[in-house]
This record gives sequence, C-alpha cells and structure tokens, in this order.
Amino acid sequence: MKFKNLVYVFVTVTLLFNCSSGSDDDTSPTPNPNPNPNPSGKITYNGNIKSIMSANCTSCHGNPPTNGAPMSLTTYSQVKSAVETRGLIGRINNTNNPMPTDGLMSQANRDLIQKWLDDGLLEN
Ligand code: HEC
Repeated sequence: MKFKNLVYVFVTVTLLFNCSSGSDDDTSPTPNPNPNPNPSGKITYNGNIKSIMSANCTSCHGNPPTNGAPMSLTTYSQVKSAVETRGLIGRINNTNNPMPTDGLMSQANRDLIQKWLDDGLLEN
C-alpha cells in the first residue's frame, strides 16, 4: 500500500516535470527560417522574401530610398517589379557590381529569391 502511494507520487512528479520542460521548448530561441510557409511549400514574398529585403536592402532601398538607391524595395509590388524590370536577380548574383553594394548575400538567400521567381513571384 505504501509502495503504491510512492508510485503515484512518482508518476505525478514525472508528469509535472514533463509539462514544464515542454513549455521550455516553446520558448527556445531557435529562429524559424520560414516563419509563414505557403502550404504548398512554395516561396512567397510574405513568407520568405520580405525579411531578406528588410535585412539586406531597405537600409538604402527604403521608403523613401536613401544613399543614391533609385527605388524602394519595401512592398510586394516594388520587389516583384524590380525582379521583372530592374534585373534584381542579376544584381544579387553579380560579383563585380553586387547588391547589396558591400558584397553578395549568402547562397541560401540568393537561392530563395531565384526560387521565388521560379515559383511565380507569389505574395502569400
Ligand atoms: C548601401 C546601399 C544599398 C544597399 C544595402 C542595396 N542597394 Fe541596391 N542600389 C543602391 C544604389 C546606390 C543603386 C544605384 C546604383 C547602381 O545601380 O549600382 C542600387 C541599384 C539597385 C538595382 C538596380 C536598379 C536599376 O533600375 O538599375 C537593383 C535591382 C538593386 N539595387 C537591388 C538591391 C537589392 C535586392 C538589395 C538587397 C539584397 C540592395 N539593392 C541593397 C544601393 C544599395
């Protein structure tokens, strides 16, 4: 009888511990590389591209653009139009004349932008 009570205590404590370690996992700081994925697995402006532009481009291509940049890259239609009419993908892969101006972004970022074009320049 006494042993059985100990088993109940053990099980209860174990369950409580599992609950608290579960919530630790929820607050772990691992960044999510694709915070808003399209259900089909396609690359989208809001899911993938907007954050790359904010981190690498809008310091000059902001609204309004600064440092001599000729256009803003702060909205879906501006970035889409820059891919279609301003050679954005060429510039982000051009080692002689790169965008951003201080050197190429990671291959992963450049691949995402190329795949965004291949997937049809989706917004969401
Ligand atoms: C340090 C400021 C700066 C940053 C950061 C920057 N640009 Fe630029 N960008 C410029 C300037 C200045 C020009 C105009 C001169 C030129 O074309 O080199 C330009 C031109 C461009 C052009 C050509 C526009 C045209 O019509 O000829 C594209 C496309 C472009 N940038 C895309 C980007 C992208 C995409 C990023 C981020 C990955 C980026 N830029 C980051 C300053 C910047």
